[in-house]
Amino acid sequence: MSADTFTILIIDDEKNIRRTLTMVLESDGYDILEAGSAKEARVVLDKSTPDAILLDLKLPDVKDLSLLEQIKTDHPRVPVVMISGHGTMTDAVDAVKRGAFDFLEKPLERERVLVTLRNALEARQLRKKVAALAGGGEIIGNSPQMAEVRDWIERVAPTDGKVLVLGESGTGKELVAKAVHEGSQRVSKPFVKVNCAAIPKELVESVLFGHVKGAFTGALKDKVGTFRQANGGTLFLDEIADMGLEAQAKVLRVLQEGEFEAVGSTKTEKVNVRVIAATHRDLESEIAEGRFREDLYYRLAVLVLKLPPLRERTGDVSVLADHFLAEFHQTGLPKRELATLARSAVERYDWPGNVRELRNVMERVAILARGESIEPADLPTEIASGSNPRLQASTGTSGGEIPAIGTPLSDVRAEAERRYLEAVLEATGGNVSEAARRIGLERTHLHKKLAALGLK
Ligand SMILES: Nc1ncnc2c1ncn2[C@@H]1O[C@H](COP(=O)(O)OP(=O)(O)OP(=O)(O)O)[C@@H](O)[C@H]1O
Ligand SMILES: [Mg+2]
Repeated sequence: MSADTFTILIIDDEKNIRRTLTMVLESDGYDILEAGSAKEARVVLDKSTPDAILLDLKLPDVKDLSLLEQIKTDHPRVPVVMISGHGTMTDAVDAVKRGAFDFLEKPLERERVLVTLRNALEARQLRKKVAALAGGGEIIGNSPQMAEVRDWIERVAPTDGKVLVLGESGTGKELVAKAVHEGSQRVSKPFVKVNCAAIPKELVESVLFGHVKGAFTGALKDKVGTFRQANGGTLFLDEIADMGLEAQAKVLRVLQEGEFEAVGSTKTEKVNVRVIAATHRDLESEIAEGRFREDLYYRLAVLVLKLPPLRERTGDVSVLADHFLAEFHQTGLPKRELATLARSAVERYDWPGNVRELRNVMERVAILARGESIEPADLPTEIASGSNPRLQASTGTSGGEIPAIGTPLSDVRAEAERRYLEAVLEATGGNVSEAARRIGLERTHLHKKLAALGLK
């Protein structure tokens, strides 16, 4: 099965019409389902959702446009093209008003059928995209790095190439994986996500490839694996580096040969799946330490995208914060806006948890802030204080102890500076020029300061 095989349901009581349409559409590469009555159509639609429907305007077992209406209710995204006979033009127009995509007049012309159907399928893709955007799937950010990411997705999505998304936790790897799927020919087929880190080692194979009843204790009935569920579509293997070596070997085989066996089965299955993998780990060191198969890495790393951490695109922070606040407002939380001081604190913070952390903080603030305008006091202290959490973590000075009252301010300041500069020098391996650059001081000035503080 190829990725862009669309399934079309033909509903018409005239056998000849069904046969002609089937021939025309099959020769153009479509898969066909047929129904000779409304009743049959309902049976088919209970079991499967076609990509488009060709529907006869006059069926013997249904009144007016009630089948069309039912389809529009049960499968709102599936485009319906009406087939109308002579003298039923006004009815056909009426059908379009009630949600049919278009209509075809008998006698049916091959070219017209194909063009109309193609238009209907395109409209469907667009509708899906719009729905995805409305669902919060938009990639926000005006930094050059994010412009590059969007451009990359646009170029890569329509191909069938395997994709590897790298980047720290919370940088948007899953969002990108979905965008690649949404921008591909496979958009109308499933997007299936597997979190490899969340599956117990002994179950990985069963989850990926399925199992047959009795394959192991607890396998009470046959189970379809995610590779099959994603057939025709995209399989997102999240946290791929957390998968055991044994499962890695099996995944490698599917990628090489497109085939696998369910656990406990001898039947070889074939699927057509585009794989997108992601990890926050450094795959090169995982390979060096023998935890990740190098051959699998080369298989997966066809199209590689490394998402930049948020602290390297500080220009996006404000835009993202506003976006999330608006989003939370839409879902029913009060309207809130960052006041100037809070905004600069948010921009200064270095967001070790990246966009996910920013989103969580905005949610918390949207719930807890005291007024419409968000002040620094509404923010978590580590963000409001403008301190650098990583520096604190590495030096253990959380600024908790206050010197004895009566200590001259100059001493307090000197002590704070001394401790800070010690930490900076430690971080730069004693390199004074580098230390000066990092804290925004002239090198000669820093030398003097170090001497004055007795650090040299
Ligand atoms: N550029 C962006 N625009 C809008 N929302 C974003 C962006 N990047 C990330 N997000 C949002 O941030 C959250 C985290 O993103 P996502 O789950 O894609 O990250 P991840 O890289 O998969 O993280 P992890 O490694 O922790 O699984 C999600 O709610 C996502 O919608
Ligand atoms: Mg993720």
